[in-house]
Amino acid sequence: MSTTEVKTLRVVVLISGSGSNLQALIDGVATGDLPVEIVAVISNRPDVFGLTRAANAGIPTALLDHKGFANREAFDQELMSTIDAYDPGLIVLAGFMRILTAEFTQHYLGRMLNIHPSLLPKFQGLHTHQRAIDAGESQHGVTVHFVTAELDGGPAIVQAVVPVLPNDDAGLLAKRVQRQEHVIYPLAIKWFAQGDLKMVDGKAELKGELLPACGYQIKANEP
Ligand code: GRF
Repeated sequence: MSTTEVKTLRVVVLISGSGSNLQALIDGVATGDLPVEIVAVISNRPDVFGLTRAANAGIPTALLDHKGFANREAFDQELMSTIDAYDPGLIVLAGFMRILTAEFTQHYLGRMLNIHPSLLPKFQGLHTHQRAIDAGESQHGVTVHFVTAELDGGPAIVQAVVPVLPNDDAGLLAKRVQRQEHVIYPLAIKWFAQGDLKMVDGKAELKGELLPACGYQIKANEP
């Protein structure tokens, strides 16, 4: 047996909803573009479409309903045990709508990613598309970042920038942003799987080069 054999990166995906980002990852694995194995999909909400997407792709699923736990700490402890049973090298938050405890984020530091629908550090938190419109922004977008204890505050890896158009409402803008989500999340995960992307001293590095504060920026070439 060769000693240089490369192990496929084992990925656990956490979801709370529709799972369109999960689908982009499933599709990337299916085409061979994304060199990872999605070993489990875990949802904190029952009956979400993301669980159906996972089951359709033959991926093991787990439901851990946060409503059944006394507090955030108890839920995060159980979530950690559930995740770690799959022995993943990377945790991917794909529309996982939970605030995480510091213990949880510390446990997965440098090996947990999130996607947030804004050009971070602008518009952390919820309702980002409406807030970008209300603020009169001419550009908006999406960021993939490493997860740290600070909500939507970890080092940025890659951002896609889209225009805000005069007749936009939050729904139209969200669709434009989501098309880019499905491009940049597989890209960031591929970088990580290839060993090109690392978090070093609290900063994101790509191929040994420090990334700028906004991450690697991509301008979407569609309106
Ligand atoms: C996406 O907009 C993502 O940016 C945000 O939650 C949403 C998840 O959508 N974090 P989906 O479940 O992947 O369709």
